Amino acid sequence: MSTIAKTIVATGASSGIGFEAIKQLLSQSQPYNFVLGARDLKTTTEAYNALNYDSNRHSVTIFPLELNNMKDVKKFSQKTLEKLGSSPIDYLLLNAGTGMVKKVAQTGPHGSKWIEPYLVNHLSQHYLVHLLRPKLEQSKTRIVFVSSGAVRGVKDTSILDDVMLAAKETDKAVYAPTKFTQLLNAHWWRRQLKGTCDVVAVSPGLIPHTGISRGSEMKIPDTLPDAKSVPEGAQSVLAALTRNDFPEDPEQIFLTSWGEWWPKDVYGLTLDKGLQEKWSPSQADIEREEGITS
Ligand SMILES: NC(=O)c1ccc[n+]([C@@H]2O[C@H](COP(=O)([O-])OP(=O)(O)OC[C@H]3O[C@@H](n4cnc5c(N)ncnc54)[C@H](OP(=O)(O)O)[C@@H]3O)[C@@H](O)[C@H]2O)c1
Repeated sequence: MSTIAKTIVATGASSGIGFEAIKQLLSQSQPYNFVLGARDLKTTTEAYNALNYDSNRHSVTIFPLELNNMKDVKKFSQKTLEKLGSSPIDYLLLNAGTGMVKKVAQTGPHGSKWIEPYLVNHLSQHYLVHLLRPKLEQSKTRIVFVSSGAVRGVKDTSILDDVMLAAKETDKAVYAPTKFTQLLNAHWWRRQLKGTCDVVAVSPGLIPHTGISRGSEMKIPDTLPDAKSVPEGAQSVLAALTRNDFPEDPEQIFLTSWGEWWPKDVYGLTLDKGLQEKWSPSQADIEREEGITS
């Protein structure tokens, strides 16, 4: 245990597995400074205040963050960097996610051509890494992408464009493809940040009783033999912050909920470097497409 506070910047820590993970860290003697992004500032602040954590040991700062809006992501990154000053970011926890289904429309949220689950599960958090990149490199930050075993549901990658575009009629069940693009992106960042930042993807396991199925027909029955509790899911995610027994193969970045590094054949399609490039647009491209001027 270090008495020097560790800084964690996190998305998706307002409820579900992410909230539980931060709650568990707040009960530790290791001091932490948290900078959290949340779309409902009031509810999230009340939830953290209700934990009665030791504020002499830990600090919790919550800034507004609506991940379907890239302008919000930019504001969050600016506030985070301002707040941190010269302090490092030890961990970046990208946990936010939604299981909401596709709604076919002319445009997605805020005029984007992309559907909301794609913006939330992938593009916004990829954009956040771009915006924080100099600080992450300087800090040698551990970056954790909370992924899902659902990525195995994508068998044909030629469907991805149509699935993500708001105006295209496709299957409504977009959770697996959006988590697939997120995992492509975790591999991409692993390659970009090689030698400076460790990038880990992790599955929390099958966790009923979270909000992930809001706005979808996807239900996680708690009778499934693999189902785990929210505290167990949070422990799986937290393991990704500290595990240092990386396999020799640098592409083996995916930690399972039972603590093993997943063999690559399980997520082989996400190792395609062409697809990783395609679904990891540059900061300039994102800003042009999403209408972010300054
Ligand atoms: N539950 C499972 O079985 C399971 C399995 C595999 C992977 N996962 C992954 O685990 C992670 C956490 O999921 P969970 O099950 O804990 O679900 P959850 O209870 O719905 O939590 C999702 C988190 O993301 C936030 N979020 C969603 N949409 C957002 C938006 N537009 N802007 C800002 N924040 C947003 C939520 O904020 P609010 O509090 O405002 O809703 C919440 O903090 C996700 O990445 C999910 O894909 C879950």
